[in-house]
Amino acid sequence: MKNIGFNFVLLLTISFLIIRCGTTEKEIVSNHDNENNSKGLKDYYQNVFFEIGCAIKPQYTENKESAELLKKHFSTLTAENVMKWSAIQPREGIFDFANADKIIEFAETNTMKIRGHTLVWHRQVPDWVFEDNGKEASKELVLQRMKKHITTVMNRYKGKIYAWDVINEVIDDGQEIYRKSKWYNICGEDFIFEAFRIARETDPEAKLFYNDYLAIDPIKSKKINDLIAKLKAQNLIDGLGIQGHWNIEYPNNELITNALNLYAENEIDIQITELDVSVYTSDKQEQISYTNDIIEKQKKAYTSFFEVFRKNKAIISNVTLWGLTDNKSWLNNWPVKGRNDYPLLFDKSYQPKDVFFSITKF
Ligand code: GLA
Repeated sequence: MKNIGFNFVLLLTISFLIIRCGTTEKEIVSNHDNENNSKGLKDYYQNVFFEIGCAIKPQYTENKESAELLKKHFSTLTAENVMKWSAIQPREGIFDFANADKIIEFAETNTMKIRGHTLVWHRQVPDWVFEDNGKEASKELVLQRMKKHITTVMNRYKGKIYAWDVINEVIDDGQEIYRKSKWYNICGEDFIFEAFRIARETDPEAKLFYNDYLAIDPIKSKKINDLIAKLKAQNLIDGLGIQGHWNIEYPNNELITNALNLYAENEIDIQITELDVSVYTSDKQEQISYTNDIIEKQKKAYTSFFEVFRKNKAIISNVTLWGLTDNKSWLNNWPVKGRNDYPLLFDKSYQPKDVFFSITKF
C-alpha cells in the first residue's frame, strides 16, 4: 500500500515536472517571439550601425496604424513630397507650410529626426521660377528667387531639420557633366554653388547634402564625386544622398562597394536616402504577381544591400526607405501607370513582409 502511495506521488511529481518543463519551453519561445515583435527595425540598427528612416505623406501621421508603425520602426522621417518647391511655394511669395508642419510636429512629439527634402530640383518646381512676364527670367532673377526660397524654408525649420538635400539630381546620366535643366540653362553651374552657400549661411548647424539616383553607376559616380570635391573644398557640403531606387537584380554589391569607396575619399557622410527594391527590372515588363519566387529574389536583394550597408557603417549614417507600405509606393505609378509593385517592407495591412525579417537577421 505504502509503495503504491509512494509510486503515485512519484508519478505525480514526474508528470508535474514534465508538464512544467514543457510549459517553460513554450514560455521561452513565446517570450522570444514577443521580444522580436516588440522590436522595431531601428532597434536592430541605430547606435550599432546607422539610423533607419522612412519617407512619408502627412496623412500617415494621422492614421493610427501607420503612425504606430512609424513610431515603432523608424527614427528619422523625410517628406515624400510636401517639402518640395511646388508644394511649399506654388506661387511667387505664397508659402504654404501646413502639410510640412504636420510632419515636423509628428517628428517632434515622437522624438524623431527629419531630413529636409529638397530645396532645389528640376522637377516639382513651378514654371514661374524661370519666367518673367512671359519671357525667360534672367539669371539674377532666378538666383534671387532661389535665395528667397531657401532662406524662407530653412529659417522656418531651423533647429528642427537636421539635414537638407540642398540640391537634387543635377548630374547628367549621359555624356554631359550637368543635366540641361532650366536651372542650368539659365544659371550655368553657379546655381549649385550658390544654393549650398546660401544654405550654409542660413543654417550653419544643418548638414548639407547632394542627393542623386544612379549614384553607384561607375561613370555617374565619378562626376558626382568631382562635384562633391569642389563643394567640399569650399566647405559647402557635409554629405551625399544615394537614392537607392533599385530592383531585385540591380545593383550588385561590387557596384555599391566601389562607389562607397570612391565617395569615402572625400570624407563626407553618406546616407541611403530613398531605398526601395522594385520587383520589376524593366519598364517593358507587364504586371506580375508577387509569387514565392519573386519574394525570395527580393529577400536576397534586400539582404545583400543591408549587408553592404552594415559593412560600411563607418561612412553610412542613415538608410531611409522610400515609403511605408507597398500599396502607397510611387512605383505603382512609375515608370508604368497602374502596374502594381511590391518594393517596401510592409504590406497594405501594415504587416511586416518576409523581406522585413530578412534584414533583421544577421
Ligand atoms: C526622386 C526624388 C524623390 C521622389 C522620387 C520619386 O528620387 O528625389 O523626391 O520624387 O524621385 O518618388
